[in-house]
Amino acid sequence: MSKIKTFFQCQTCGYGSPKWLGKCPDCNSWNSFAEEKAVARPQRSAVRQTKEHVEPVSLRAIEDTAQHRIPTGIQEFDRVLGGGVVHGSVVLVGGDPGIGKSTLLLQALSGLSRHAGKMLYISGEESLQQIKIRADRLSVSDEDINLLTETSLEDILDSAKKISPKAMVVDSIQTAFTQELVSAPGSVGQVRECAAKLMLFAKRSHIPIFIIGHVTKEGAIAGPRVLEHIVDTVLYFEGDRGHSYRILRTIKNRFGSTNEIGIFEMSDSGLREVDNPSELFLSERPLNVSGSTVVASIEGTRPLLVELQALVSPSSFGVPRRTSIGVDFNRVNLLIAVLEKRAGIHLGGMDIFINIVGGLKMIEPAVDLGIITAIASSARERPIDADIFLFGEVGLSGEIRAVAQADHRLKEGSKIGFAKAVIAAGNEEKMRNDYGLSVIGVKNVEECLDAILG
Ligand code: TYD
Ligand code: MG
Repeated sequence: MSKIKTFFQCQTCGYGSPKWLGKCPDCNSWNSFAEEKAVARPQRSAVRQTKEHVEPVSLRAIEDTAQHRIPTGIQEFDRVLGGGVVHGSVVLVGGDPGIGKSTLLLQALSGLSRHAGKMLYISGEESLQQIKIRADRLSVSDEDINLLTETSLEDILDSAKKISPKAMVVDSIQTAFTQELVSAPGSVGQVRECAAKLMLFAKRSHIPIFIIGHVTKEGAIAGPRVLEHIVDTVLYFEGDRGHSYRILRTIKNRFGSTNEIGIFEMSDSGLREVDNPSELFLSERPLNVSGSTVVASIEGTRPLLVELQALVSPSSFGVPRRTSIGVDFNRVNLLIAVLEKRAGIHLGGMDIFINIVGGLKMIEPAVDLGIITAIASSARERPIDADIFLFGEVGLSGEIRAVAQADHRLKEGSKIGFAKAVIAAGNEEKMRNDYGLSVIGVKNVEECLDAILG
């Protein structure tokens, strides 16, 4: 006999407590506890598929089916997934409302359908007519896509079993609910339980499932840590409402790299892939303005040239402000200290702002050289030549260190039309081709600033 019990759960992080609490001891949010009733039942592993698997299985005896992938036909999406979607995998696509998640997945289903056949799109948010209007806009019509407007998870799974599609989309996990729990759809308990059930279904049926999740104010999908560890792959769809480009970023991927990004542009007829992102990110670059430089970074497997800006101005407060958008704040502070000590630039009383144009985030140390030169350029009020781009890691003693994949970066720069590259001396010695660029190898920060700012 199953027993009904109630407990209280933090709606932000999923922390459970037998009694109501005003403040969550785990994530410190206030007034976030709601009562949840759960039917107590034995824990089941989502990956365990049949009863026989209770017995250990020889590694050699397991069939390698997981690596068969279905391409979505959208190259940017496929690359982010690691080369297409894996059978039986669960992919969570998160993002702000209105960013284009439903659009992206309807386009992906259309591509998948061309390769694999029958698809199922389940929406708990929009009516069939609304989806039809969007499909017309995206010119998705001939493909074998079945639509269902349903929010009950049990009914969703019944339909999926009946029509057995080759892939399905659940739009969105916050509207789905399972009858086993009495809490409201969108609560942590519901979201977690529904995701676990979908995971179990995907593993048993080998049907890949895309789950759409809305991001909460705090920037996490239905509370942090709640869904991310259940699913196989977590993708975030980001972008500025003011701009038309969107970035699909991998946060977690059991079947591929987590460094990949896919870049799209929202147009009148849906999302368009951006084949040449460097050109897009450099398109509005101001020329002959101090504090602007171009760095060559590698995102996953692809080189990307972006503009990095710095603004250095005298501070009107006792403690100067330091802000960085798109690069690590601590890294910027470290590089400011290197500039002060090794290049003799006084930044003590200065406010310093750093920004990567286009809303990108760069965690690679190769952008160090860009940060250093942008700050120096702004501090000395000297613009950097518009046809220079650079990359290199900066060490604490002011030395410039070589970075990986220098040839890739040089090639991309030359393709975009740059004439000069300033790189680590270690990279210059080993480069195989200069791609028609005049390449300057620098050993330390002083040499670099001499080469660029004169
Ligand atoms: P949508 O996919 O509904 O966003 P989400 O599912 O993430 O909430 O798309 C949101 C926006 O995209 C909407 O404001 C309209 C815009 N849009 C276009 O600009 N072009 C298009 O072809 C489509 C379908 C949508
Ligand atoms: Mg939507």
